[in-house]
Amino acid sequence: MKNYTSIHDIDDINSWIAEAKTLKQDPLKHIALGKDKTMGLLFFNSSLRTRLSTQKAALNLGMNPIVMNVSGDAWGIEFGDGTVMNGNTAEHIKEAAAVVSQYCDIIAVRAFPTLTDKVKDESEQVLKSFVKYASVPIVNMESATGHPLQGLTDALTISEHAKVAKPKVVLSWAPHVKTLPHAVANSFIQAMQKMDVEFVITHPEGYDLNPEIIGDTPVIYNQEEAFANADFVYTKNWCSYSDYGKILSEDSNWMITKEKLGNAKFMHCLPVRRNVVVEDAVLDSDSSLVIQQANNRTYAAQLVLKKLLENL
Ligand code: CP
Repeated sequence: MKNYTSIHDIDDINSWIAEAKTLKQDPLKHIALGKDKTMGLLFFNSSLRTRLSTQKAALNLGMNPIVMNVSGDAWGIEFGDGTVMNGNTAEHIKEAAAVVSQYCDIIAVRAFPTLTDKVKDESEQVLKSFVKYASVPIVNMESATGHPLQGLTDALTISEHAKVAKPKVVLSWAPHVKTLPHAVANSFIQAMQKMDVEFVITHPEGYDLNPEIIGDTPVIYNQEEAFANADFVYTKNWCSYSDYGKILSEDSNWMITKEKLGNAKFMHCLPVRRNVVVEDAVLDSDSSLVIQQANNRTYAAQLVLKKLLENL
């Protein structure tokens, strides 16, 4: 594996999950692997979990992490080819990615979508430009259309907490006050499609995700019907894909409640808005796996970094 930019970079999810579980049992076992190696983390957007867990993963492997908030602290980066740079951008990605590659052995990038320009977002301009112009491996820490570190984490968490051989997993849309990306939902879908689970998606009409990602995964527009006999309910808000970037509904009837959840475990990537997306009674109960998920972010990232280090 040269880069980790998508769930599709996982060749065998079951062996990856098994290896992540082994790493979790002894996180410092491979501390010599990253000795004298530098991990660069570049953030175009905010983060709590990704920022800290990816640094922790690098430290567990003996790497030296360095972090930059690109949007606030670096020169404005130009991504257009052949642009006359007489505007607000001061440095081209060709130089920026090549220069960061002089300091870092692996570069991780977070760059969210515009949610106003579907074509630009789907081109993954920022992530793909780093892959093209950097001379070291690139890790996706959430791009316009995917969050594969989160997706791997979620697969690991479901594997750890499954009580039956083939659990029923439901991805449910929930209301939100802001326009949110599709990245987490996309990578979760791709991860579940690789696992041996009964997987369904539920959301109000108008919130269908990219059909190329949905594939033949069943979509049920009735949340109660979808939740029947669920073992895991993974909840996420996203904006409309067809009416790109729009909020079509804030219907609070889609909020996750203890009553709706029944015996299922609740999952969310965090951050989550209490009593908008999910009620307190769920998050404050043993049904919630959100903290276990957040913990697993470290081991998912550590597994990815380990594989990249072994391939340097
Ligand atoms: N789940 C997740 O990616 O969290 P952060 O946005 O805080 O990194």
